[in-house]
Amino acid sequence: MSRHSVLKRRECKLHYCCSSCASSRQMSCKKWLLVCLLVPGTALLLYLSLTKGEAAQRYPLQKQQITDTPIEEEPGLYHVAYPREYKFIIDQPKICEEQKPFIVVMVPVPPGDTDARNSIRMTWGREKVVEDKVVVVLFIMGLNSENDEGTLQERLRNESRQYNDLLQSNFLDSYRNLTIKTMVMMEWLSTNCQQASFAMKVDADVLLNMNNLINMLVSLNPVPTNYMTGLVWYASPVIRNPFNKFFLPHDVYPKDTFPPYPLGMCYIISLDLPQKFIQESKHIRPIYIEDAYLGMCLERLGIVPTKPPNMEQFVVALTQYNRCYYSGLIAILTASTNQMSSFWADIHLTNSPC
Ligand SMILES: *[C@@H]1O[C@H](CO)[C@@H](O)[C@H](O)[C@H]1NC(C)=O
Ligand SMILES: *[C@@H]1O[C@H](CO)[C@@H](O)[C@H](O)[C@H]1NC(C)=O
Repeated sequence: MSRHSVLKRRECKLHYCCSSCASSRQMSCKKWLLVCLLVPGTALLLYLSLTKGEAAQRYPLQKQQITDTPIEEEPGLYHVAYPREYKFIIDQPKICEEQKPFIVVMVPVPPGDTDARNSIRMTWGREKVVEDKVVVVLFIMGLNSENDEGTLQERLRNESRQYNDLLQSNFLDSYRNLTIKTMVMMEWLSTNCQQASFAMKVDADVLLNMNNLINMLVSLNPVPTNYMTGLVWYASPVIRNPFNKFFLPHDVYPKDTFPPYPLGMCYIISLDLPQKFIQESKHIRPIYIEDAYLGMCLERLGIVPTKPPNMEQFVVALTQYNRCYYSGLIAILTASTNQMSSFWADIHLTNSPC
C-alpha cells in the first residue's frame, strides 16, 4: 500500500468519526475530533516507549569490545558462541600428512546436504592432481541437531567411511553459526595441515576452475605469508536496516564500513594465518558475518588482504552463462549446486575450443 493511500484512508476514518458524532449530538464535532486524535496518539506513544525498552533488553552487553583478555561469551543475536572447546566428531586428522597437498579446499555444507557434496565430488572436487599439485577437498559441517544420533548421523558416518572427506564438529550447524564453522575450520587447519602451501574456503554453489586457481597460486612464487586473497571488498558498508539479512546494530559494530575482506564465497589463505585468526578471536568477539569478521581480525593483525593477480577472475554476480567467459574465471557464484554442476560439465566435457 502506498503512503498516499494510507493517508487517504486515515482521512476517511476521521471523516467517518466526525459524521457519527454529528448525528449523536452529544458531543461537538471538535470534541470528537480530539478523542479521535488523542486515543491513537497515546497508544502510539505507549507502543514506542515499550518497543524501545524491548530493544534495550534484546541487545545487552553486545558492544564491540577489543580487549587484551578473552571475553566471556554471552549467547546473543549478533555474536556467535566462539571461542569454545568444540571438537571434531568426524575427522580426517592424517589426510594432509599422508597426501601432502599443495592446497586444501574446504567446503562448508549443512550436514543434510548430501546432494551438494556429491555434485562437488563429481565436478571440481574430483580433480585431485592439477599441474602436478595435490588438491585435497574436504566438507566441513556442524551437528544437524544437538545430541543427534539418528539416521542422519549414521548416514554421515557411512559417507565419511566411503569418501574420507568429511569433517564434523560438535556445534549446532545453522546459518547464524557460519562464523563458528569458519573458526573451527581455522582450528583444524592449524592443527592438521600446516604443511600445505594454501587453504581455500569455497561455498558449495561456486563454480571453481581448478586449473586457473592452481596456475594463479603457482605464479605466486615463493609461497607468501600473511596472505589472504579472493574477491576483496573495500569499505563494505555495515547494514543498519534491521530487516536486512546482514543487519548489525551500531553498538555491536560502531564504524560505518568494514575493513577490507575477501567475500566469503571463496577466499584463499596461506597456512600461517589460521593460527593468527584463532589468536585474534580471543580479543574480538566473533560476529555472525564470517567474512567481515575475518576482515576485522586481519585489521587487528595489521594485514591487508591481497588483490589477486586478476580480480576479474572472481565473480559474485549471477551472470548469463557463457562457456568461454566462464572457462577463464577462477570462481563464480551460481544459482545452485545443480547449476554449478551443469556449467562445470559444459566447460569440461565439450571439445569446442574457446
Ligand atoms: C550405514 O552402513 C551400514 C553398513 O554398511 C548399513 O548397514 C546401514 O544401513 C547404513 N546406514 C545408513 C543410515 O545408511
Ligand atoms: C550455535 O551453536 C551453538 C553451539 O552448538 C549453539 O548453542 C547455538 O544455539 C547455535 N546458534 C544458532 C543460532 O544456531
